[in-house]
Amino acid sequence: MRYVIDRMTMSDVPRVVEIERLAYPSTWPPSAYRKELQDNRWAHYIVLRDKQLVEQATAIPQDTEKMRKNRPFPLSLLPNKSTLLSSSPDLASIIGFAGLWLMVDEAHVTTIAMHPEFHGRGLGEFMLMSLIGISYDIGAKWVTLEVRVSNIVAQNLYRKYGFREAGVRHRYYSDNQEDALIMWTDEINSPEYKQKYLELKTKLLQRLETES
Ligand SMILES: CC(C)(COP(=O)(O)OP(=O)(O)OC[C@H]1O[C@@H](n2cnc3c(N)ncnc32)[C@H](O)[C@@H]1OP(=O)(O)O)[C@@H](O)C(=O)NCCC(=O)NCCS
Repeated sequence: MRYVIDRMTMSDVPRVVEIERLAYPSTWPPSAYRKELQDNRWAHYIVLRDKQLVEQATAIPQDTEKMRKNRPFPLSLLPNKSTLLSSSPDLASIIGFAGLWLMVDEAHVTTIAMHPEFHGRGLGEFMLMSLIGISYDIGAKWVTLEVRVSNIVAQNLYRKYGFREAGVRHRYYSDNQEDALIMWTDEINSPEYKQKYLELKTKLLQRLETES
């Protein structure tokens, strides 16, 4: 398949930070990700890669070289290949990231973000599905998260995966004092949840396979 999930590594952090800036109104400093990856043994972070972008990114230097010869003005004025252009093909292929912390038997989703150019293709769902998959692997029983009350897109995604509202944290977000909804899944090992998860997973993987 065109899309792959990898564990986030230190070298992915610059690209993660780029995407985070596009996705969120306020951001973590890069050092926070490095600390998470280095020091937090309960943290699990992933990146989503688009393998097609590796091919495109490796082709870009040649295009750029051609343009440099034909057009005698600064490279910075060349048509912007968008923010997908990062310093190495490997980094440029990252189009989303997500993470969670395991706290005893609860998986707390800390972040999930897609590059805006890739919204609406089932890829945010692919990352959430992968986080739930990791939650199974690390022995979590529930998955929980906070989401802005205004973030209907994310709430819809979470509801699709069985998250339900369990309360509100008032003025949780410091940038605009917005409330957060607290959402929880049912016990992920319950036969009902597992069946629902596996059905959604099968359907999503079929979709991604056909649309790739
Ligand atoms: C939230 C986010 C990760 C969703 O990723 P995405 O790739 O755009 O979403 P998907 O295409 O995978 O859609 C999955 C589900 O989300 C919901 N959804 C997606 N786009 C939607 C839209 N425009 N309107 C309403 N619901 C939407 C739907 O339930 C959809 O399921 P469906 O395809 O069966 O309808 C993405 O919008 C994002 O990065 N947002 C900015 C960061 C953020 O807000 N993160 C969440 C913090 S709690």
